[in-house]
Amino acid sequence: MFDEITKKQVEAVAEIKAALDKTQLEKVETKWLGRKNGVMLEIMKELQKTVGEERKQFGQAANQLKQAIEQALREKHAELSEAAWSNLLAGERLDVTQPALPGATVGHYHPLTLVQRELEDLFTSMGFMVVDGPELESDYFNFTALNIPADHPARDMQDTLYIKDHPEWLMRTQTSPVQIRAMQKYGAPLRIVVPGKCFRNEATDARHEHTFYQLEGLVLDKGINFSHLKATLEAVAQHLYGPQTKMRLLPKFYPFVEPGVRGEVTCSLCAGQGCRVCKNSGWLEIFGAGLVHPNVLEAGGINPEKYQGFAFGFGLTRLVMLKYGINDVRLLESGSMKFLEQF
Ligand code: DAH
Repeated sequence: MFDEITKKQVEAVAEIKAALDKTQLEKVETKWLGRKNGVMLEIMKELQKTVGEERKQFGQAANQLKQAIEQALREKHAELSEAAWSNLLAGERLDVTQPALPGATVGHYHPLTLVQRELEDLFTSMGFMVVDGPELESDYFNFTALNIPADHPARDMQDTLYIKDHPEWLMRTQTSPVQIRAMQKYGAPLRIVVPGKCFRNEATDARHEHTFYQLEGLVLDKGINFSHLKATLEAVAQHLYGPQTKMRLLPKFYPFVEPGVRGEVTCSLCAGQGCRVCKNSGWLEIFGAGLVHPNVLEAGGINPEKYQGFAFGFGLTRLVMLKYGINDVRLLESGSMKFLEQF
């Protein structure tokens, strides 16, 4: 009988050690310690039949068997858990030296970002600071402080998206409000450009979009005059379209400047000969500009007797369309991969 128990011990421990996973181990455990038909249970039944000295020895041997099985089970459980952990960690490990899978593509910037960065580089090289402003703007900064009072017709041309229950808030229609914010924050002298998103309530078509980009500029200093404006913007135009590019300024009304101009450059697509894009005029309008209105300086906390300035606003979206020959503005915000993969 004892021999048999010893044999069983060897057998049980071997089976436990051989288990490959938790499921197998559970099966072996049930076989040996199961409460219904477990081997151990059968041995205990046998034990009931014995008496005296035999019972004592048999009992001790059975106990030893049970302990050996339990010990082996504990060890095996620990071993399997550890293996599971290290498998998991091995799966988590990232081999940064592994070559990319065939067909993997590298991302790139959106065409708007490319042109924006190019202009930021140019302006910072001329001593400008790049600043940001909020897209959700107040009526005051977007209009009133820019010399566009509540009843001014200029507001009609810039209908926008308003915020429910907050009549004083709107989605900015232009980057110009950041002129006021920057004047209030930094004072004069000042040289800033402000690239950013603008919004208008537009019926969209190939030339109009409710969301578009501008690049605003503001220069404040003592004795700033129109020639500073012209020389600066000419340098920008030639940087964008080449040294042969000509620029012309035509009068145009903007409430926040006096005088105000629209800036046109010779069409880069037809070299001024006239084409579909420039509507056969040979010229393309790419910015609005002017000398900053004294009311605007005052709203920004600047003394107009001491400081003068010029401001300008480029249609960044338009510059991108011209640069890449994009004929539908809606493509820019479409998220279409077919479109984006071309840049
Ligand atoms: N904010 C004007 C617009 O959206 C563009 C503009 C014109 C900006 C003249 C200026 C400026 O700073 O001086 O149409």
